[in-house]
Amino acid sequence: MTAEKKIKKVGILCSGGDSPGMNCAIRAFVRTAIGAGLEVYGIRRGYAGLLEGDIIKMDESSVGNILQHGGTILQTSRCPEFHEADIRKEASHILARKKIDALAVIGGNGSFNGAHALHEEHGIPIAALPGTIDNDITGTNYTIGFDTAVQTAVEAVDKIRDTASSHARTFIVEVMGRSSAAIALHVGVCTGAENVVVPSDNIAYGQIASDIQRGIVRGKNSSIIICAEGKVPGLSYKIQENLKETHDIDAHVCILGHIQRGGNPSSLDRFIASRMGFVAVNELLNGNKAFVTAFVSGEVTPVPLNECLEKRDEYLPQTVDLVKALSI
Ligand code: F6P
Repeated sequence: MTAEKKIKKVGILCSGGDSPGMNCAIRAFVRTAIGAGLEVYGIRRGYAGLLEGDIIKMDESSVGNILQHGGTILQTSRCPEFHEADIRKEASHILARKKIDALAVIGGNGSFNGAHALHEEHGIPIAALPGTIDNDITGTNYTIGFDTAVQTAVEAVDKIRDTASSHARTFIVEVMGRSSAAIALHVGVCTGAENVVVPSDNIAYGQIASDIQRGIVRGKNSSIIICAEGKVPGLSYKIQENLKETHDIDAHVCILGHIQRGGNPSSLDRFIASRMGFVAVNELLNGNKAFVTAFVSGEVTPVPLNECLEKRDEYLPQTVDLVKALSI
């Protein structure tokens, strides 16, 4: 596309795992775009739906009464084929046939990589809105859905703590985050966990056991270990086995799973997602061709897409320190 071409029609899709607040971003994008005189097309089921031409025209009412609901009205999918250049070429032809001039993609860093390649290879302007419960994309300090997911997990762990205290038990609670420690660490701080296990090849079993034993010695009536699921859900069973066999500690396992991806978005997620949808349209109209509506220093601001393609994998060291300092 030449720099002069005016954007008239925009498309929007969700990609990867859904996250609470995606609907707020869709609503804000659609209404801001219509308010600015653009035509808006919703692409259903992410890149998979794009490749099948599953595209619907949207109006103001298409996004009525959705902002309080989790999930995404456009639905989403994981689409590994989009890693292939031929497949992206086909996608660019479909967008051209529909005369869609720019695309908004709500998703995580895998989805952003697909969008970035589409932009680099075919010049399609991209607005990328960070949406994943994992809060693990470089270039932005926040991703839509994280606050709600953490709150869901915290409420669940509070309930588990009640029964753990009544029976003087140890629980290992597994939260989501295949390669992200963010949910686990935040939940650990907010529930007073005795230890948080983050995605890593080396699990410090001895440390977990000594944290539990230290608590028991000082009279604690229960112990909660928060564990990020790691590559494959079920890591907590490995920890349970090791605690029993090596340290003679009985622990119960509770895997929270996909309940963390659903539910009504928190007000924080609603606000930030709405702001991201609004900024996305305005930046496209300003001629920005490849950007992320990043959350930086308390504000939604455009950051170049190529700075937001990696996973933020630092284990939030200050949060690790906080868990340690507060769990003695
Ligand atoms: O979307 C992020 C995430 O929820 C991760 O926290 C989790 O590890 C993964 O997706 C699970 O993906 P799926 O629902 O495809 O199994």
